[in-house]
Parts: sequence; structure tokens; C-alpha cells
Amino acid sequence: MGSLALTSTAKYREPFEPLPGDVVFVPYGDLDAAARAVDEQTAAVIVETIQGESGVVCPPRGFLPGLRALTREHGALLWVDEVQTGIGRCGEWLTSVSDGLDSDLITLAKGLGNGIPIGACLAIGPAGELFTPGSHGSTFAGNPVAAAAGLAVLDTIENDGLLEQARELGDHLVEEIAALQLGQIVEVRGRGLLRGIELTTDIASQVAETMLELGWIINAPRPNVLRLAPPLIVTPQIIDDFVETLGVVIVQESGR
Ligand SMILES: Cc1ncc(COP(=O)(O)O)c(C=O)c1O
Repeated sequence: MGSLALTSTAKYREPFEPLPGDVVFVPYGDLDAAARAVDEQTAAVIVETIQGESGVVCPPRGFLPGLRALTREHGALLWVDEVQTGIGRCGEWLTSVSDGLDSDLITLAKGLGNGIPIGACLAIGPAGELFTPGSHGSTFAGNPVAAAAGLAVLDTIENDGLLEQARELGDHLVEEIAALQLGQIVEVRGRGLLRGIELTTDIASQVAETMLELGWIINAPRPNVLRLAPPLIVTPQIIDDFVETLGVVIVQESGR
């Protein structure tokens, strides 16, 4: 219920309301709105380094450092959600750390388990003293099998050079999409192998559905945005095949 209270998407929140806590949502990238919302009563500011569900939205320059300054000023924690961006997806272990953002808390999940369910909350500096053993217990917390999987994932990413690979293949993906020269594409954004394609019209779910019929899994977080998050072991050849099909499907769906 605590996690649900932190997501603004109505379809996730509303069936479970009322939700606990006194959570205020402010538009992503709007530092002035954040400044109006944060005061001495604020416990934490929670932010994604790239918004995933909202359609792979990158922060404007200065936004995340601005939140750091704001939270310091008011004695609030800066909590960075790297559940989607972390552990290799964007070609970095942690995008916030690579970008020099010194947050108090970082949450991780998806990429850490590579399919095995695991989540982690990293607490840094004084924030690391807030929980003590037993203060956040659960039946399956500290699960040794999940922890072993997490460690194996970290070793594999390091030993197989997957961070660099995600960066290179992400660049390749963007170049190939640009080479399609489709008027239906407004922009391709994101980082590494987390990419969003903004389209001129609301055909993203039809495109995603047709791509699935053809064997490609992508999704449509917004009516006009496609999200791509291929495995870190994808090859240039697979990317080329994917982009070729995607181009055909976008043209086909926009002509309906
Ligand atoms: C950015 C982000 N944070 C948190 C979560 C929730 O993670 P979990 O399902 O591991 O609780 C998700 C799930 O999609 C997510 O995308």
C-alpha cells in the first residue's frame, strides 16, 4: 500500500484508495513546482532518473541536482527509484551514481534479479542508520536463493561487459530507427537499452499488439509512446531485424 501511494497512475491507485501517507505529486522536471511542494514537513522526495511508466521521459538538465539541493535545504531524504533504470538497463550500474547524484536512498528490482523476484533498498550515509535488523522484516525477506541470483546477475554483467554492450547497442538502436526516416516518429529518447519512441499519433498500442503477433515484445506506456527494453544480450542483427519490422508496422498502423 505504501508503494501504491507513491505512484500517480490512476488505474493503479484508484482501486485501492484511500492510500496511506500524505503524498504530493508534482510534474516531472518542474523544479519550481517541487520547490513549492517541499517544506520542513517533507520526509522524502522520490524520483526516477528516467521515468519509465510515463513514457521514457528524461529529466531536464539540472532537475535532479536541483532536487538534491532542495531536499538538503529542507532536511528531506532524496530517494531515487532505479527499479527500471538500474543494473545495466541504461548502460550503467546506477544512472544516478554515474551522473554524480548523491542520493540518500536508491531502490532496485527488475534488472537485479534478471527474472528472479528480488528488490533492494540501498541506504547511503546517515540514511543507512534508519533501519536496523528486524525493523523491516517479512517472511521471504533476505531470501538466499534470490540473493544468490542477484549476485550471479552482478557477476555476469561485469564479466560479460554488458554495461558497455548496452551503451553500444542502445546507440545502434537509435541510429537504426533514425535511418528509417519516418515522419510518424517525433523522437527517440532514453539511455542505453531503455528507449522510448514518441509517435505523432496515438497508435502505440496497435503497433505494440501487431509487433507481438510478429514475435516482438514491446509496450505502449502512453497512447503515442512505445517503450523498448530488449535483453542486454541482444545482438546488432536482432536489432536490425526488429527495426525493419517496426518501420513497416508503424507505417501500416498509421495508414489505417
Ligand atoms: C520505476 C518503478 N519503480 C517501482 C516499481 C515497483 O517495483 P516492484 O514491482 O518490484 O515492487 C516499478 C514496477 O514496475 C517501477 O517501474
